Amino acid sequence: PVIRREDYRKPDWLMPDVFLDFALDPARALVTGRLDVTRNGAHNRPLRLHGDGLVPLKVLIDGEAQADAWRMDGPDLVIDLPGDAHVVETQVAISPEANSQLMGLYASGGNLCSQCEPEGFRRMVFFLDRPDVLSRYRVRMDADKARFPVLLSNGDLTGSGDLEHGRHWAEWTDPFPKPSYLFALVAANLSANVDHFTTKSGREVKLAIWVVESDLPKTGHAMAALKASMAWDEKVYGLEYDLGEYNIVAVHDFNFGAMENKSLNIFNSRYILADPDTATDIDYDGVSGVVAHEYFHNWSGNRVTCRDWFQLSLKEGFTVFRDQCFTADQGSAAVKRIEDVRLLRAAQFQEDAGPLAHPIRPESYMEVSNFYTATVYNKGAEVVRMLHTMLGPQKFRAGSDLYFARHDGTAATCEDFVVAMEDASGVDLSQFRLWYSQAGTPRVRATLSHEPAGGRALLTLEQTVPPTPGQPEKKPMPLPLRIALFGERSQRKFEEERLVVLDGERCEILFEGIAERPVLSINRGFSAPVVIDSDRSAADLAFLSAHDDDPFARYEAMQQLMVDTLTGAVATGQADHGPVIDAVRNTLTDPKLDASFIGETMLLPSEAFIGDQMAVVDPVAIHKAREALRRDLGQALEGEWRDAYERTRANRFELSPQAKGARRLRSIALGFIMASGASDGPEIALRQFHDADNMTDRQGAFGALANSMAPERDAAIAAFYERFRDNGLVLDKWFSTQAFSIRPDTLDRVEELSQHPDFTLANPNRLRSLVGAMSGNQLIFHDASGRGYRFLADMLLKVDGLNPQTAAKLVPPLGRWRRFDEGRAGLMKAQLQRLLDTPGLSKDMFEQVSKSLG
Ligand code: ARG
Ligand code: ZN
Repeated sequence: PVIRREDYRKPDWLMPDVFLDFALDPARALVTGRLDVTRNGAHNRPLRLHGDGLVPLKVLIDGEAQADAWRMDGPDLVIDLPGDAHVVETQVAISPEANSQLMGLYASGGNLCSQCEPEGFRRMVFFLDRPDVLSRYRVRMDADKARFPVLLSNGDLTGSGDLEHGRHWAEWTDPFPKPSYLFALVAANLSANVDHFTTKSGREVKLAIWVVESDLPKTGHAMAALKASMAWDEKVYGLEYDLGEYNIVAVHDFNFGAMENKSLNIFNSRYILADPDTATDIDYDGVSGVVAHEYFHNWSGNRVTCRDWFQLSLKEGFTVFRDQCFTADQGSAAVKRIEDVRLLRAAQFQEDAGPLAHPIRPESYMEVSNFYTATVYNKGAEVVRMLHTMLGPQKFRAGSDLYFARHDGTAATCEDFVVAMEDASGVDLSQFRLWYSQAGTPRVRATLSHEPAGGRALLTLEQTVPPTPGQPEKKPMPLPLRIALFGERSQRKFEEERLVVLDGERCEILFEGIAERPVLSINRGFSAPVVIDSDRSAADLAFLSAHDDDPFARYEAMQQLMVDTLTGAVATGQADHGPVIDAVRNTLTDPKLDASFIGETMLLPSEAFIGDQMAVVDPVAIHKAREALRRDLGQALEGEWRDAYERTRANRFELSPQAKGARRLRSIALGFIMASGASDGPEIALRQFHDADNMTDRQGAFGALANSMAPERDAAIAAFYERFRDNGLVLDKWFSTQAFSIRPDTLDRVEELSQHPDFTLANPNRLRSLVGAMSGNQLIFHDASGRGYRFLADMLLKVDGLNPQTAAKLVPPLGRWRRFDEGRAGLMKAQLQRLLDTPGLSKDMFEQVSKSLG
């Protein structure tokens, strides 16, 4: 059953007003839906209400049971309706506590909560569960008051009271029409951190973050981020909040990060809870980034929603772009850009290069849950960023103003967004639309030649877009490339940076007044999500890493130098680490650079990224080459690392960008001290582990020790567990750190941990912390025995029966078999085949596995 974008048809029926009643109980909740339906256009098709695993207990049409007017058709309820407007009432019983899929209404930590996007609503009540049907909701619920003192839904509280038998009720009314995927309901025993925000036009908004009472002290960072996001969206986009209340509820069992339900966000608790003892700086950043993301959806997603799920990037790409810019404005823009690009390359470039490649606006799917991907989200954000770069901030803002004004209160398409940008800017974006339809990461070959006599330099750019499944031929795309030339001798930039849009297969750019040998700085700031192939020498890259005035380009030059060195070492078995050591020394000791930037730049490219540069990935050779470079860097610069380690020592915990940068550099320095083989390395790490007054330092040391064969490693594992065994989020780190270890016994340890009493398949965070981490550990997962593959497949089979959506998201590492040698490829395919042959495989898994096999 493949759903195609071209088959979109407007809905046969609309549903302007709905009333829902939830008689709540964890074992058996009775859900009643009363829908005011109206025929949409002239047709005589019946009303088809989506269901998923529902059995109708009651169906009333205009208040009457008309048994011959309705029937079940598979999971759906089909009703023949004679007129153009009717009231349809249905009732079902569902069991939240038996809902292991965590879609629809489910229980987490004794509380009840919902997750509807994309198609979870239909697991609660028969409904028009599609994003282009917008309704005003009135929601009544009742529940045991002692067990569920807090009853929340979208909009405003419009009534509440006590009932007999210790129950109580509440009614919520949302004045904004919305699609079902934005519905939310919570019945819980939680406490709130309450605060207030006044919008620029004077609306008073009550903000509440709901968590278990003992977690209240960990909600301050999320609250601060929420208020900062509200102010930022007013300032940067002119967008204000539109209701009197904004609630956020944190739950421990959640399939992904968080959900932007209108005025009632529901979050994975890992993106709400943070305090210095339990959260790393990365966790803190995750909290503020996701809080901002969900808040920004109130406009990019909720006020203007998506017509159908093929348009998902309309809200996700745009909202990721918005949250990236927010974070950049809050701290170091350069570091944020480096992190975003690192993630894009790690997750999205791999996706684009494999069997699951798809454009940011896919053409078809079997299960839409499989399309919440790095492509739709992160490449989608890059596409919006390119519009911002090409149009400039003013025209971009005019385009976004027009988009929100035109489409407020409706379900829009990616095309609507591009048209608004076009209309407001006057810029023709016809070719730009290819970014929505073509998959694959474009490659640009850049060749610079210099003619000293005439003082001219000629830059030749050539683009190719690789074939992807279903798209053998590609057209050239418009690639906005920020470009500058530097004089090798003078160390100065020749002229202001240029923005070149490469829109054909090839173009030549002439630079004049270039008297000395120029060095090319290209795709500065990562202005286009492409791969650049250039023939810059190690010396050129080292030069740029020291002298480029674009911080991203400096980072990039260092990365390229490291990658070239490592791929060279893998290919030839020979390595000259000298240039990298010199470049690293320069950066590490440059007093003008801040610690966070130095830290980012010192990080060696991941083993996976090195593999991505090779025709056939050799995980063992890559690991050896990278460890050799780590050791040589550690030894050659041991004094500098120890110095950096000492100068980043803090006597008091702070969350400032400077303090975060210092912690980052400190843990990286520790890693290099350990890699040097210095005999006191493990001891220094264990001391940092024990003495740390924050999780960043503790985790930094723990990560370094987890890779070590020294006895200090066992001490750290035991101490970490004893200290944090009651904190699920921290225990996740305990699992994942061990699963990321490069020790040769990691697979044994992972298998052992899968039997640990604290391991459970039911909690997605815990599952990912072991299984996701192991399959992201290239050396370990690709153990030539195939044990890593088998372990993953064993787990997937177990999880699929419980939570297919989360299982399916763990399939892609197996789909990379084409990138490996025959032996590994055969073993990977065998596991995929084993999955495919399993009777009763979910639709989610079937799509991922069958596409991965090819
Ligand atoms: N809309 C949510 C967010 O971006 C995520 C929903 C993910 N849904 C899914 N089925 N994976 O913030
Ligand atoms: Zn989102």
